[in-house]
Amino acid sequence: MTDGYIDLRSDTVTLPTDEMRRAMADAELGDDCYGEDPTINRLQELACEMLGMEAALFVPSGSMANQIAVKVLSKPGGEVICEEECHLIHHEAGACAMVSQVQLRGLPSRMGVLSADDVHAALRPPDPYQPRSVLVAIENTHNAAGGTVWSLDDVEAVASVAREARLPFFMDGARLFNASVASDTPARDYAASCDIVTLSLYKGLAAPMGSLVCGRSDLMQDAWRYRRVLGGALRQGGVVAAAGIIGLESMVDRLAEDHANARRLAEGIAEVVPDGAIDLERVQTNMVFFDTTSVNSSPAAFADALKTEGVLAGAASSTAVRFVTHKDVSSDDIEKAVEVFRRVV
Ligand SMILES: Cc1ncc(COP(=O)(O)O)c(C=O)c1O
Repeated sequence: MTDGYIDLRSDTVTLPTDEMRRAMADAELGDDCYGEDPTINRLQELACEMLGMEAALFVPSGSMANQIAVKVLSKPGGEVICEEECHLIHHEAGACAMVSQVQLRGLPSRMGVLSADDVHAALRPPDPYQPRSVLVAIENTHNAAGGTVWSLDDVEAVASVAREARLPFFMDGARLFNASVASDTPARDYAASCDIVTLSLYKGLAAPMGSLVCGRSDLMQDAWRYRRVLGGALRQGGVVAAAGIIGLESMVDRLAEDHANARRLAEGIAEVVPDGAIDLERVQTNMVFFDTTSVNSSPAAFADALKTEGVLAGAASSTAVRFVTHKDVSSDDIEKAVEVFRRVV
């Protein structure tokens, strides 16, 4: 479909490596509903080691992982305190309302990072007219803010507000390893203050599918049940978990290349567009957002023009296109994409 294009729509377009394909073909398999798939078990153990968590559960997608986390940690009728542009609010098809029957209270942020004071101020008092706060949720990296990174101090500050209020704390870490590599912060340090962390294996880590829900053992027993409820219980899922193991073992460090490519792309774009059309401060990992109104275009029209020149980008909002770097675009591709961008502008 996208042969011949430089595909910068998302890191979800990455294809498994040859090593992954071989590991998938050779994977030892069993029925995971009996806990007997050795490859899934190995993947889950590896995630626990990397995050310092007690237990992990392999699930088909990042959205399912997030929905299981919210379901496990919340109560119907409750309010989840989160960031106003987060994935839970905008990109999970209203699932939190359907699955967990919670409302999402989106707070403004600085580039996706909530302030502990704002979270504290959003805690509901014990008033029978108001909903109950049930969960604090953050996203790291923050996708809609530009792939921005939470510092460990910011995570711990918000986590401690949650802890003092006796609320659980959840991190959507679909791209946690991007945050970890960019900030040189071990993923386990980020995870230490969280009740549950979710991870995606199929984005920058390049597995074909699969995410992990990681947390305390007692919570993971509930998670197992809700995975079943959502139809995500797996049988010989080790056939894809095998690729996830390689993702965790050997694709994390190379994320730095994606970050360098995003920086190069952003700087190349910044040279030819009006000031403010691109915010270099937000280019912290593998994403670049460009405000197309600065060149009197819509995101869809701009993306179409790029496509005719061989570059794919996604319309991220009514004003911006998004470029995402990943292992299937090289630094040469990025130079070509900068050239195409200049021609199109
Ligand atoms: C922040 C974040 N969370 C979760 C997900 C998982 O979404 P999906 O299930 O569509 O892969 C994504 C995917 O892009 C994401 O960006």
